[in-house]
Amino acid sequence: MTAVVLAEPSLLNLAGFEEALARGWSPDPRRQQDKAYVDAELEGLRKDKAGFLTRFTSGDVVATSVSNREPQRLVLRLFWIWDGEFCGYITLRHLPGTVQLPLHVPGHVGYSIVAWKQRKGYATQALRLLLPIAAKAGFERINVICNEDNLASRRVIETAGGVLHSTGADPSDAPDMIKLSFWLATAGDA
Ligand SMILES: CC(C)(COP(=O)(O)OP(=O)(O)OC[C@H]1O[C@@H](n2cnc3c(N)ncnc32)[C@H](O)[C@@H]1OP(=O)(O)O)[C@@H](O)C(=O)NCCC(=O)NCCS
Repeated sequence: MTAVVLAEPSLLNLAGFEEALARGWSPDPRRQQDKAYVDAELEGLRKDKAGFLTRFTSGDVVATSVSNREPQRLVLRLFWIWDGEFCGYITLRHLPGTVQLPLHVPGHVGYSIVAWKQRKGYATQALRLLLPIAAKAGFERINVICNEDNLASRRVIETAGGVLHSTGADPSDAPDMIKLSFWLATAGDA
């Protein structure tokens, strides 16, 4: 199996991401078939590469009830999944200075693999590679969430050592979709 690495996004390796958008890949798992969204992202990137990169690598500003604080920007660590070419990305997100997340944020991790690099074990490798990074950032475990019908994502999480701890719908997101929530120990030997 080809090994992948997690690469820091930069202007030097943005061309693969741009090409993926141009081929119709949607970086947002919730907007897989949304051509207008993909076209707008591509246009934004081509207009201002540095600005696009800054925006894409910045965490969302989220409401949080932690200590009654004001909305905060999530810390987002974003990596390209790389086999010599751009394959997709994986992120680790959390509230600044903590390992916590507001309830409505769907887990510490997000990932996506471009269609032409799927089924090569890349997402599974990437999630495993993220574990020591999370451990270094102070996480003993990370929460990873997928839709019940996302069999590929479920396999990725379970193969990387994820243990199912809860299932249920998220009324603020897609009330009809059952979500599976897993914990992954960052110092495990999966
Ligand atoms: C989910 C996703 C990241 C998996 O990426 P991938 O690199 O193809 O996954 P892997 O090659 O590591 O495969 C993991 C397992 O899923 C299986 N799998 C992959 N694609 C599959 C599919 N479409 N249907 C069923 N099983 C699938 C693989 O066979 C493998 O199973 P195994 O461990 O039993 O051999 C990819 O399908 C994707 O980007 N989907 C769209 C975005 C998304 O859903 N992100 C996750 C949000 S929680």
